[in-house]
Amino acid sequence: MSGAKAKLPIHVRKAREDDREAVFEFCRHTWSWGDYIPHVWDKWLREPNGKVFVATLDGIPIGIQHITIDKPGEAWLSGARTAPQYRRMGVATAITEKCLEYAKDMGVRVARLVTESDNVAASAAVQKMGFKPIAEFIEMTLEKVLVGDVGSEVSSWTNLSQSDAIWHYLQSSKTYRRAAGLYTILYHWYSLDMRDMERFIEQGKTITYSGEDGAIEGLILVDDAVSIEWHEKSIQTCYIDGDFETVLDMAKFLLSHCKTKDIDKIYGFTCNHKPITDALEKLGFKKPETITIVFEKRL
Ligand SMILES: CC(C)(COP(=O)(O)OP(=O)(O)OC[C@H]1O[C@@H](n2cnc3c(N)ncnc32)[C@H](O)[C@@H]1OP(=O)(O)O)[C@@H](O)C(=O)NCCC(=O)NCCS
Repeated sequence: MSGAKAKLPIHVRKAREDDREAVFEFCRHTWSWGDYIPHVWDKWLREPNGKVFVATLDGIPIGIQHITIDKPGEAWLSGARTAPQYRRMGVATAITEKCLEYAKDMGVRVARLVTESDNVAASAAVQKMGFKPIAEFIEMTLEKVLVGDVGSEVSSWTNLSQSDAIWHYLQSSKTYRRAAGLYTILYHWYSLDMRDMERFIEQGKTITYSGEDGAIEGLILVDDAVSIEWHEKSIQTCYIDGDFETVLDMAKFLLSHCKTKDIDKIYGFTCNHKPITDALEKLGFKKPETITIVFEKRL
């Protein structure tokens, strides 16, 4: 793409139902396979904690962006789209500024978003707006859970009595720091605090590896939102921590669970840390071609 073009006299406002057709039209060819915006549009417009902003030119939508305020002080931006013929004209910048203004009014102190390592335009645009890369993640996938090298005698589901020990483990974990203290559900990253941790445990979504003295040596958080969203028998990892051996053991435990529950597919989200990705690869998980980078801006 050539360099910057003249800026446009655009107007940014909250999205309305009747923007739908124009938005879907310019999203038709965002990626080679299309776009997920039509799939989430209705949900996004109804979210109590979210807003979609749209940029218009002569009243016609030419760009969008979505923002949610997940917890007090924390916002997540997603779905930035500029109609192809209006790119490099300041549209995404103008919408993002509006989103951040709204977020600030709502008491947000930190805004985050994600881009893939090969998305030159998005990466350049967010950095120009002052976002800094804070952590790298990788989405590994296991398409078919096979019988065989699965099962563990050390790893187990966790109960609330272990929450303090897990929290203590995380506080001194290099992986937790490398992940900027974040976990993901459905391609959306959140700060992992004690309350989230306890919710994972209460919902039976926490696998730990305990050493002989009972100390926590590894942790995997999982979630099934992806299976509900995409109507498939799948599960995702939301956070993985540990060394090669402990991750390997916990992942075998997870595979065994999937086998019992007839879950076919695992999305292995993890921060990009070799001992963890090596352990997953050993069990047949495939690495993607790109790395997922989370950016952050303090408001
Ligand atoms: C990413 C995207 C939303 C950017 O929208 P945009 O309206 O073109 O962005 P802006 O015009 O506000 O660009 C702001 C700055 O970002 C940088 N930038 C944007 N596109 C760029 C590109 N293709 N190459 C290099 N730098 C780029 C430039 O520094 C630009 O400022 P300049 O034009 O004054 O030099 C748009 O390219 C798009 O819709 N892409 C497809 C969907 C997508 O990738 N969404 C993001 C998913 S994370």
